Parts: sequence; structure tokens; C-alpha cells
Amino acid sequence: MNQYQIAIDGPAASGKSTVAKLVAKKLGACYVNTGSMYRAVALAALNAGINPASEPDKIAASLASWNIESVPDGEGSTSVVLNGVPIPAAALRTPEVSNAASDVAKIPAVRAYMLELQRACRSLGLIIMEGRDIGTVVLPDATAKFFVTASPEERARRRLAQTGEVAEGATLASVAAEIARRDFQDSHRAIAPLKPAEDAETIVTDGMTPEQVADRIITTFEQKRK
Ligand code: DC
Repeated sequence: MNQYQIAIDGPAASGKSTVAKLVAKKLGACYVNTGSMYRAVALAALNAGINPASEPDKIAASLASWNIESVPDGEGSTSVVLNGVPIPAAALRTPEVSNAASDVAKIPAVRAYMLELQRACRSLGLIIMEGRDIGTVVLPDATAKFFVTASPEERARRRLAQTGEVAEGATLASVAAEIARRDFQDSHRAIAPLKPAEDAETIVTDGMTPEQVADRIITTFEQKRK
């Protein structure tokens, strides 16, 4: 079993998902998006009429009844399954779910649940795991760790270009404000805040193509696994 792992963390809309998928494709590895798992909890909460910002106890109490799994999709990636039914990717990416995901990610019981789910993905072999706390908490012994980021303007531009992920009538300024609010919340929470691991390589992707970022990650990974 190939037990190498690449950890990629970074703020919202930094381009890390695009890059992580590309790295996985080039290496024939399995891509694991941990944000989707938090988004699944957020969606389950919203569907149950629970307010993720003001009712954390209800979410903690309901967690055991929401059976969330991350399963290989047969195409080099994993998809999130809620109570036996795969969740369509688009349902996880709406602005409402994005905000609710950042709220549920603050809840200690949710993070404990996720830690187990995410560490279990090590059994998939060579994995490229992407999130906010992968290098710091989930996979502290990962073979190579990266913090992928970009300037706030660049990130707002990228997010605005992703149809379905922004509210109707969104502008560059409103998207930038929304990203900044979520980043602040993600990096200031008590447990597992967004931050680079001490041994992570930071890549600022302004002016770089996904291909260039992926190649840089692969070069470092190949050196580290020798
Ligand atoms: O990467 P994303 O935008 O899909 O993540 C959605 C939310 O989930 C994000 O606001 C923070 C949270 N998250 C987290 O706290 N830890 C992770 N490892 C991944 C995501």
C-alpha cells in the first residue's frame, strides 16, 4: 500500500481545489476534498431546519444520525454520501451552504467527527487531501505540505467566475467581502484554525497557471519522498 500523502491547505477561492485535482490526476492519486465534508454537515443541518450559527448543540446532537461518508467515485476522486445517497456537487457549493459550512466548522463535535472520517481516507493509498487544517491537524505526518493562497483581489475574481457559487447580482466587491468574512472566521476559530503548517511550502498563485502550481507541488513531493 502506498501511504504517501500530500496536504494542501489554503483560504477560500485560492485555487487549491483545481490544483489538488490536477496533482491527483498527474500522480494517479486519490483526491480528497475535506471542505465537501463540512459542506455536507451544513446541508444536512439546513435541510433539518437547524441554524448552524446559533444552534451548534442541535448539530452536535444530530451528527450521529447523519451518516456521512467519503467514498471513492471511481474517477480518482471521492464524493460525499449522506445517509447512503451521494450529494450532487452543485448542492454543496451554493452561497448558503458555503456560509453554513464555515459556521459548522467551528463546532468541536463536528471537527472530532471529521478528523476520524478524514484520517480513514489514508487507507485509499496515495492521497492529495485539501482543506484548512490538513497539514496542521489531520495529517501532521504528510509527506509534503503546501499552503496555497492568492491575493484577495485574485481570489474574488476567481470566485466570481465560478457560476453557481455566488449570490445573484454579486459583484467583485461583494464577493471579496464575503470571502474575507469567511477567511476571518476560519482563521480565528478556537480549534484547528486555518494557518500554514510550520513545515508547509507556501505558494502564492497570482500570475501562475494551475499547471505551474501543480508541477511545483509534484517537484517538492518527489524530492521529499526520496
Ligand atoms: O474548502 P471549502 O470552501 O469547500 O470549505 C468549506 C468550509 O469548511 C470552510 O469555510 C471552512 C471549513 N473547512 C474546515 O474548517 N476545515 C477543512 N479541513 C476544510 C474546510
